[in-house]
Amino acid sequence: MWPRPGLNIEIKTPDQIRMMREAGLVVARTLRLVAAAVQPGISTAELDALAEREIRAAGATPSFKGYHGYPATICTSVNNEIVHGIPSPSRRLRDGDIISIDCGAIVRGWHGDAAVTVGVGSISAEHAALIDACQAALWRGLAQAKAGGRLGDISHAVETSIRAAGRYGLVEEYTGHGIGTAMHMDPPVPNYGRAGRGPRLRTGMALAIEPMVMLGGPETVLLEDGWTVVTADGSWAAHFEHTVAITADGPWVLTQPAPAGGSAPHVPPEDHAGSPAVPLEDQAGPPAVPPGDEAAPPDLGHM
Ligand code: MF3
Ligand code: CO
Repeated sequence: MWPRPGLNIEIKTPDQIRMMREAGLVVARTLRLVAAAVQPGISTAELDALAEREIRAAGATPSFKGYHGYPATICTSVNNEIVHGIPSPSRRLRDGDIISIDCGAIVRGWHGDAAVTVGVGSISAEHAALIDACQAALWRGLAQAKAGGRLGDISHAVETSIRAAGRYGLVEEYTGHGIGTAMHMDPPVPNYGRAGRGPRLRTGMALAIEPMVMLGGPETVLLEDGWTVVTADGSWAAHFEHTVAITADGPWVLTQPAPAGGSAPHVPPEDHAGSPAVPLEDQAGPPAVPPGDEAAPPDLGHM
């Protein structure tokens, strides 16, 4: 399962991780802005324009635009679309829809990549539970991004979390990935697998973890636009993603905004009403998240 030969995992210095944090914060702010703009009647192209303006205003570059010919700044995947939906002026959101927004930015050559799924207006309890399950699984995976562990620990934590949450489909054809000087790097990060297997996790690695789950079966179909991935059975899907660095102090979720009001080391992000881009607190057992506060960055000096 693991493509051992040729697997080449980039190791970052502490300074490089700090530059990735800058890219991560641009992505975080952009996602928060776009998620806050989600409402019935807005088009996905309008959301894309907001995102591009925000990223460029920060002096950063949208990483998706032009990537293998991808035409936009964000991916907007609505309802049965799982990932890589292309923003369009004719796709207007409606009350009850769910939309996954995926965003990447580059700062001084370093990448950040993250995604959230939010509801449009009021959504069904079933879709809210789907979104929660996907987000919780992401945080379970992030908590395993620790030096000394194995990549399979992350995959296993994501899968176990989803399986425990209900009868959801878990996408296997698309994975997370290493990230750093490019958006997609070694290693692939599957959302399923066995603990204790795969490459050893080391300080200085950075990974994008991104579970994709649906209400129905796990099968996917690629549309003729060459990008949009939809569920084979038409069921609706959720997608969450964060970029995480493995530091000597534990996982540093680079695309998670700093908590308002100062540092909150080793606590999960707070449930933040009205700001759907901020993950919910994981009641079952919070993953340890190292300081994500710009004012007090983690001490990476001994990485
Ligand atoms: N976060 C997405 C991923 O890792 C990136 C979108 S691919 C692009 O798959 F081509 F749209 F940029
Ligand atoms: Co990604």
